[in-house]
Amino acid sequence: IKRITTVQVQEMKHRHEKIAMLTGYDFTMAKALDEGGIDIILVGDSAANVFAGYETTLPITLDQMIYHAASVVRGTTRAMVVVDLPFGEYQGSIDQAYLSAVRVMKESGAHALKLEGGLEIIDNIKKIINAGIPVCGHLGLTPQAINKFGNFGVRAKDDNEAEKLKADALALQEAGCFAIVLEKIPAALAAEVSASLAIPTIGIGAGNQCDGQVLVVNDMLGMTKGFKPKFLRQYAQLYQEITGAVGQYVADVKSVNYPNDNEQY
Ligand code: KIV
Ligand code: NA
Repeated sequence: IKRITTVQVQEMKHRHEKIAMLTGYDFTMAKALDEGGIDIILVGDSAANVFAGYETTLPITLDQMIYHAASVVRGTTRAMVVVDLPFGEYQGSIDQAYLSAVRVMKESGAHALKLEGGLEIIDNIKKIINAGIPVCGHLGLTPQAINKFGNFGVRAKDDNEAEKLKADALALQEAGCFAIVLEKIPAALAAEVSASLAIPTIGIGAGNQCDGQVLVVNDMLGMTKGFKPKFLRQYAQLYQEITGAVGQYVADVKSVNYPNDNEQY
């Protein structure tokens, strides 16, 4: 099957077909997501949380993102693969952003990048897009700025922040972004932004008027024990599945039930 492109993703908005996106970090999961029909796999810097166990996304490095991204690309044939540029690798200067972007594209084979922020980094985004690299924006709760926000609560609840978000969204569209992720903002604001833009919005905790949805795959599969924000729908309970399977394996090994005669040479 032909791979989904940023052009097709934009066409989906215009024919009112919602865009389905999930994060992915490794080859095996990427293969299953691809076969499941996902449109876009986001190699999120949330790998810092769900893979590495950090409290924030700040520690993950460009090399680590490239390793995750290359693994995901190898597991896909249909899905478009979008990769987060991690904290500290694109905010410093236009040149820094460009060099980080080129490294991810060259070394992972991914198809697009995602950067957090609006007008503050608009020149850096333009440089990347001018080099022929598609960029997805990310506004609202941008986790790389968590130390500024102080908590993971809903963003843009007041008029000032809502107005800034709308200006940022327009600037990102103007700069040539192919889509914008809207994270944890009021559904009404997300609806207004989505209606005002020609490019698609992809929401997480931003209501159903966005042009697409994204979730962290480990969260939606019920693998992240104890994490259940209001917006999260769990489509499986894999944490219990895994602990149950492990418990059974342990019991079978201890009781010499495993391996049996058919499971040895
Ligand atoms: O890193 C990530 O998982 C993300 C999504 C939550 C949008 O950026
Ligand atoms: Na991210």
